[in-house]
Amino acid sequence: MRRIAVCPGSFDPVTLGHLDIITRASMLFDKVIVLISTNAAKNQASFTATERMLMIAKATEHLDNVVIDILDGLLVDYVRRVQAVAIVKGLRAVSDFEYEFQMALTNRVLYDKAETVFLTTSKENMYLSSSVVKQIAYFGGDISSFVPECILDTIEKRLKKEDHDEY
Ligand code: PNS
Repeated sequence: MRRIAVCPGSFDPVTLGHLDIITRASMLFDKVIVLISTNAAKNQASFTATERMLMIAKATEHLDNVVIDILDGLLVDYVRRVQAVAIVKGLRAVSDFEYEFQMALTNRVLYDKAETVFLTTSKENMYLSSSVVKQIAYFGGDISSFVPECILDTIEKRLKKEDHDEY
């Protein structure tokens, strides 16, 4: 049986922390579906779902068992449909735990045939988040240590404040 894992997230944009988790998951499962999902608690995304998908595709080109998909709905419905055995999430610091724990338990009530699996990133990526990357890029800071090099330009072009100022 092929063991499929779903790795859901907003990925707005994908960071080296995400890529680290996706890479680790790709070594544990036969197939990993990186699922661009909507977090209803977050404001309007900076990149469209298709743009996020293209960026992840470029950054994961070297990983043969990784595919990308877009979800506009409940995660558990997708997990059930593709018969995934695991939902993979990255766990950074203590602050992530409560939120991730709540989601994992809720998802289990909704669908109990997949396990939520938490992976930890390498310590270099422990503190990284898309929102911090967005702030740095907005003010023209150097984000090259935080995002995959192949998508650096795309991210900088979109997020840099000067490119949006009209005065
Ligand atoms: O990267 P994020 O924003 O922390 O990821 C959260 C995400 C997108 C995985 C979560 O909000 C989600 O699963 N959204 C899909 C809708 C859903 O199933 N929500 C119920 C979660 S208990």
